[in-house]
Amino acid sequence: MVNFSLEGKIALVTGASYGIGFGIASAYAEAGATICFNDLSQEKVDKGIAAYKEIGVDAHGYVCDVTDEAQVQAMVAKINEEVGIIDILVNNAGIIMRKPMLEMEADEFRKVIDVDLNAPFIVSKAVIPGMKEKGHGKIINICIKRRKIVRSEEKSASGNEHAKEACKRKPCAQKAACIMVATHKTVSTNKLK
Ligand SMILES: NC(=O)c1ccc[n+]([C@@H]2O[C@H](COP(=O)([O-])OP(=O)(O)OC[C@H]3O[C@@H](n4cnc5c(N)ncnc54)[C@H](O)[C@@H]3O)[C@@H](O)[C@H]2O)c1
Repeated sequence: MVNFSLEGKIALVTGASYGIGFGIASAYAEAGATICFNDLSQEKVDKGIAAYKEIGVDAHGYVCDVTDEAQVQAMVAKINEEVGIIDILVNNAGIIMRKPMLEMEADEFRKVIDVDLNAPFIVSKAVIPGMKEKGHGKIINICIKRRKIVRSEEKSASGNEHAKEACKRKPCAQKAACIMVATHKTVSTNKLK
């Protein structure tokens, strides 16, 4: 039972073939939104489309690496053409690297920053022109609530969550798009089991 409507809205939820993204997209679909999502491989996208079908959602899936600006621009252009201009973007795609800082390679940290921080910038940049054209839009960056509690043994990944929150204060939030940060406690998705 939903107490609000997203009827007529087009939502892009990144990395949403399963996990939290799938849950968010399913709830949006229940509220009436048309769902677009992407993932890294055709196999993941096909599995995602099948999972949405199982719950009665006709989702539009795209193979796209959110760290690759050319791929993201091409995906958004395709969505504009095939589905329509995006009203809601959820920057959900992310990496959870549960490693203490001293055990993490710099390249691993760069990868986390690329997916968790640079990608929301890249995808938002691709989507905001359409939102400006429409005169409205919502961008939601998924973070973790724990980011506010930094303990001495804290995983190094928490740094990117601080940075993700800082994104909402960047100038791209001006006028057409409203940028929010959604936080949550640990959710037991397949990866964490
Ligand atoms: N599960 C948790 O408790 C938890 C904790 C902290 C933060 N988060 C954040 O919540 C979000 C979702 O978490 P989840 O547990 O569902 O993760 P998950 O690993 O289950 O799913 C993430 C999805 O993103 C996709 N993805 C990863 N890199 C990508 C890329 N470069 N391009 C496109 N897609 C890519 C993956 O293939 C996967 O489908 C992430 O941003 C994660 O950092 C989750």
